Order: sequence, then structure tokens, then C-alpha cells
Amino acid sequence: MSSENYRFETKLLHNQHKVDPVTGAVSVPIQHASTFHQFDLESFGKYDYARSGNPTREALEDVIAELEGGTRGFAFSSGMAAISTAFLLLSSGDHIVITEDVYGGTYRMVTEVLTRFGIEHTFVDMTDLNLVKAAIKPNTKAFYVETPSNPLLKVTDIKAITSLAKEMNAITYVDNTFLTPEYQRPLELGADVVLHSATKFLSGHSDVVAGLAVVIDEELGRRLYSLQNSFGAILGVQDAWLVLRGIKTLHVRLEQSQKSAIKLAEFLETHPLIEKVYYPGLKNHPQHELQKSQSKGPGAVLSFDFTNEQALQVFLSNVKIPVFAVSLGAVESILSYPAKMSHAAMPQAEREKRGIKNSLIRLSVGLENPDDLINDFSQALHQVNEKLLVLQQGE
Ligand SMILES: Cc1ncc(COP(=O)(O)O)c(C=O)c1O
Repeated sequence: MSSENYRFETKLLHNQHKVDPVTGAVSVPIQHASTFHQFDLESFGKYDYARSGNPTREALEDVIAELEGGTRGFAFSSGMAAISTAFLLLSSGDHIVITEDVYGGTYRMVTEVLTRFGIEHTFVDMTDLNLVKAAIKPNTKAFYVETPSNPLLKVTDIKAITSLAKEMNAITYVDNTFLTPEYQRPLELGADVVLHSATKFLSGHSDVVAGLAVVIDEELGRRLYSLQNSFGAILGVQDAWLVLRGIKTLHVRLEQSQKSAIKLAEFLETHPLIEKVYYPGLKNHPQHELQKSQSKGPGAVLSFDFTNEQALQVFLSNVKIPVFAVSLGAVESILSYPAKMSHAAMPQAEREKRGIKNSLIRLSVGLENPDDLINDFSQALHQVNEKLLVLQQGE
């Protein structure tokens, strides 16, 4: 049976790098060398200098390419390094149509850096295809999709966007950080470049910062390789190894976290202090059916709105289990405050235009027992109730 026929969770373990061909080691060796001796002046070996190629990084690049169903993978020093390098496929004078509630770092790159190099953009709510069509210009060369989006979990129809892009010879990028290839394979839906903050679910333990890109064809692979080598924001070998190790347990982590996320979303949805829950796994999510049709699961990240910012503050100071931190996709549950964390790079007016309120909080569900999380949230919400009551009585 070739590994192509294995199911996803088997592929996570049994791929071309499962055994080191030299020693039989069942863990990819960490090759620290920055340079490689050349035995022959006329013909150099496969590796010459580690920015251009390193066997440990290459193992990770091969693994992610196989899992995403692409021709070639690339490992970078962060998700932003992957995204920024992939943007260098574009040239001055090009225009990008981009999801309006993208990750704040992507927003900063597009608005503050690419604009200085003559690359224009238009942000759109990609759940509305008419808005996407209206944003297209004669110089549109790329569509940039983040789905589900961060932090409002809006779902974009990847196939519809890639069809539009193909009609006009533009490329489609998809940031697949939230779902990973376990649940969503954008290249199979027509995308050209898949991007990851591998800092998140792929590595999964809050102990490495890394980025990955996978391309659909060899020509894009050749171009992105040249950019990776030119720009040089490669992933170090220790970190590549950590991501490789994290990927082995991706299936069990994500399945468990997603199960708990569904439970938590249902609990929060019925709580009177929560104004709105944003989670594509809920039946009342506006793109619930689309999400089911283009991916295998809604993932383990959700956001919710309190009735006001004060309620959110009381909740945060009383909740005990999740860490309160920037990031997501780890074994421990993480609460983040988009207004001051992931989307701090977005001015308040821009955030509000997109519905990212100061009373919004994002939850990445980890591997704790979901009932412990629900109990913890219940007691913190009870404190919110008490505090608000005291305040109301004082008025
Ligand atoms: C969806 C998404 N894309 C990209 C990034 C950037 O990745 P990194 O922090 O690894 O640079 C993040 C980081 O939070 C993210 O959430």
C-alpha cells in the first residue's frame, strides 16, 4: 500500500521521512550544519549552504507538501515570514483582493509595507461574492483568503474565489492556519498557495514560532524557492524538528479540541451574558452549510461577544484555566483579546468597521476536559453577574 492511499492520520506518521535511511532512526535527525563540504569542484552535492537547503527543514517541507496535496513546501521562521515572502510573488502595480478580517499582522503587511512597493489592495467581506466581484480591478493579480477568518470566523467559499481568480489569471492564497490540512485542503479547491502559521495547531504546544507555505505547481514552487532563498527567512532546524513532532499528533489533538469547542460554543450560546458566539460549527452560523461542504470540521477556535467591555474584564480576571495570551492552537486553552492582541495592528475605526468590538474575546480550545472548562467559565460568568448587579445597585 503506497502512503498515498493511507488515511490522513496514518499519513501524519508514515511518510517518506518516517525512518532515516542512514541510521534507521525513527525521528528525523537534526542537521545543524550551516554549510556542506563539496567533494567535487565540478558537481556540487544536493546541499551546499543551509539557507538554500537543509535536510531537516526539507523533511518538514516534504511532509507539509504531502499533507496539503501540493507539489512543494517551504518552511519559514514565522507565519508572517511565510506570508510576506509569498506576497513577493507579486510585483509593483499589482492589486490584491483580500478578506477584510484577516490576521492583524497580515493587515499590517498589506497596508504598511506592500503599499510602499506599489502593491495595492482592497479589503472585502469575502462571504459576499458580489462584493468580491465589485472589488476586482484590471490589475488584480491575487486573491487572499483567510477562512475561517480571524477573529470573526467568517467562512469564504474557496472554490468560488479560485474560479474567479482563474478566469482572470490571478493567484489565490489561502491562510489555512485555523483548520490545517486535517480539516481543509485549499489546493484541492483550486487555490495556488496555502499558508500557515505553524506556530499554532501544526506544532501545537506553544513552544515554537514557524511558518509554512505549499504551492500547487512546479513553476510557483520554483519562484517561491527563489524568494525563500533570496529573502532568507528560513526556519531553523530545531524548530523544524519541533513542528515535525507536533504534526504527528495533529489528528488526536485537533479532534479532541474540536469536540470540546462544539460543547463550549453550545454552552456559551445559551448564556444570557454572552451576546453572540462566532463559530462555524453552530447551526445558526451564516456559513455553517458552506463550512461543512468545503471542510471536514469547524476547528477549535471560536469568538464571543460580551454585552459590554466591563463584563469581559470581570470575566477575564476570574477565569482560571485558559491562559490569557496572544496565539491559538495549543494543548492549553488560550483566551485572547483581539482588540489589543492579534488585531492591535488594525486601527480601532477599522476594527469596528469589521465588527471586531472591544467586547469580543477569542477562545482556542485545548485538551482540558471540556466540563472543567465549562465549570470554570460558569463560575467566571457568575462573577460577572454579581459584579454587574453591584454596579447597577450603586447607580
Ligand atoms: C491566521 C493567522 N495567520 C498568520 C499568523 C502569523 O503567524 P506567526 O505569528 O507565526 O508569524 C497568525 C498569528 O496569529 C494567524 O493567526
